[in-house]
Amino acid sequence: MTTPYPPEDREKVVTKLPTELRRELKVRAAELGTDIQTAVAEGVEAWREAKDRPVVDTAGGTSFATYLPTGLYGKLKKDCTVQKITYNQGLAQSIRLWLDTHPSPAPRPPRTTGARRIVYGNQKGGVGKTSTSAGTSQAIGEMGHRTVLIDFDPQGHLTKQLGYQMLDIDAPSLAKHMLGEAKGELRDLLVPIKGGDFEDRLWLLPACKDAFLLDAKLATSRTVRIKETALEKALEPLEQDFDYIVIDCPPSLGYTMDTALYYGRTREGEEPNTSGVVIPVLAEDTSADAYDMLYDQIQDLIEDMGIDIALLGFVVNMYDSRKGYVATSSLEEWQNIGDPPVLAVIPELKEQREAVRMKQPLLAYEPDCEQSMVMRTIARKVIG
Ligand SMILES: Nc1ncnc2c1ncn2[C@@H]1O[C@H](COP(=O)(O)OP(=O)(O)OP(=O)(O)O)[C@@H](O)[C@H]1O
Ligand SMILES: [Mg+2]
Repeated sequence: MTTPYPPEDREKVVTKLPTELRRELKVRAAELGTDIQTAVAEGVEAWREAKDRPVVDTAGGTSFATYLPTGLYGKLKKDCTVQKITYNQGLAQSIRLWLDTHPSPAPRPPRTTGARRIVYGNQKGGVGKTSTSAGTSQAIGEMGHRTVLIDFDPQGHLTKQLGYQMLDIDAPSLAKHMLGEAKGELRDLLVPIKGGDFEDRLWLLPACKDAFLLDAKLATSRTVRIKETALEKALEPLEQDFDYIVIDCPPSLGYTMDTALYYGRTREGEEPNTSGVVIPVLAEDTSADAYDMLYDQIQDLIEDMGIDIALLGFVVNMYDSRKGYVATSSLEEWQNIGDPPVLAVIPELKEQREAVRMKQPLLAYEPDCEQSMVMRTIARKVIG
């Protein structure tokens, strides 16, 4: 099972850091593809050797937790005592030093193939499409990318879990835009997802119950290829405004899924695995059966349309090895597939359910919990 740190040789350290420094650390670690705890450990090691140790303003600090290799925090505390500075100050200086010696990578050239599109799909219900699409989008937002989450499920779980109302059945909606029945701009329907270090970069397109009729309407439409292209056409205007468009799909395999899969295809000129599909699964046999069906549908679409659709990876969710052989052997089977890879194995974690109950984004509700760390790990692997 993957955990973000090996518990046996790490110890939890709780301190207070100014919000700006915390945010800078999260963004930089993400940009450089490093874990926060590795960055802090490297910073502490370097700080202990450093000659210059400029004072960092730690006023207005809020709680920050990380995990350091056992014994390292003890050494830092001793150094702080010798230097007559607080432990907080020592840690803040270490982080500042790491940031100053690990600059932000050069910005990539602007993309000519539109926003990157990540589709979370699996027709099996309750496997974690909504929770992982939401959590990883928050992590992508934290990394500094403008991201929009599309609630493509008429059940509207994502919308409700983030504390928003579903769009009124008679009001403009994504489905109406897809069917050419809406007036106005799609971007006017977006709402901000607030709180956390992703604020101002993360938006939601709320769900509407009219999407229940989408499959039937797409099936009977006379417009050529609308079944595949409807979502792409509707979302096109958003691609100028966002770096990432993340789709939380409903648990179904109909045309709604086809249009989302088509949208997640590798476009001409786009690097492989830049956009694609993430498949949350459980470590049990019914999940394997469901994947076979989804896989067949994806292959059919690839052949019918002559396109490429990248499978970016599985997320094995709510894994509990205490469930015995069925769980452990199922996990092994997911891992043995190899391509796509298993991006993460997530245990059953209370913070996920608590955040849903509180109608708050997970990474704002409990930014330092294991579930939030896993979401950042998945995001880093997905965006590469
Ligand atoms: N790792 C986890 N630990 C604890 N609870 C979890 C975890 N992952 C998801 N959940 C909870 O399990 C339930 C189902 O998850 P989620 O809604 O993300 O699945 P889904 O695949 O989107 O479901 P649906 O198919 O109905 O859209 C939710 O209540 C969610 O909060
Ligand atoms: Mg869902």
